[in-house]
Amino acid sequence: MAKEVLKIHEIVKYPDPVLAKMCTPVTVFDTALKSLVAEMFESMYVAQGIGLAAPQIALTKRLTVIDVSYKKNTQDKLVLINPEVVETEGKQVEEEGCLSLPEIREKVARAAWVKVKAQNEHGEWFEVEGEELLARAMLHEIDHLNGVLFIDRISRLKRELVLRKIKKMQKNGEW
Ligand code: NI
Repeated sequence: MAKEVLKIHEIVKYPDPVLAKMCTPVTVFDTALKSLVAEMFESMYVAQGIGLAAPQIALTKRLTVIDVSYKKNTQDKLVLINPEVVETEGKQVEEEGCLSLPEIREKVARAAWVKVKAQNEHGEWFEVEGEELLARAMLHEIDHLNGVLFIDRISRLKRELVLRKIKKMQKNGEW
């Protein structure tokens, strides 16, 4: 069989309204879903990201892919379908970015450790625990499925500055 050519999806940028939508659960675990997951990983790698959520490719489904080591360790490839945060602990404040907000980076407070329950591509439930960057990535991506962006988690003043920067870039045709 010929090697499948994966579709690279265009990444939706803020302020596209799809990024503010509450996503709906994935209910069908078929080959189309598996292809979509593969396409999301590839689209994420092309965009040089470590996480991508379905609304970022204009799909309002509760589906996200993460790879905090960016292709270095295959066991870091994580598919979270219909994920739920089960437990959190501690606090970390680190800089965060998002493929839908290119060039914007701000410090965001997140839990230092998190336990997440999710389904895999076959529909099987599993639990995954993560700290530091993995905890941050999972929480950031799960936020996307609820229409929340990291700039919704910074102070109003900082958000105003970010929005002003985006407006300026839009005006200059850089956004
Ligand atoms: Ni993001």
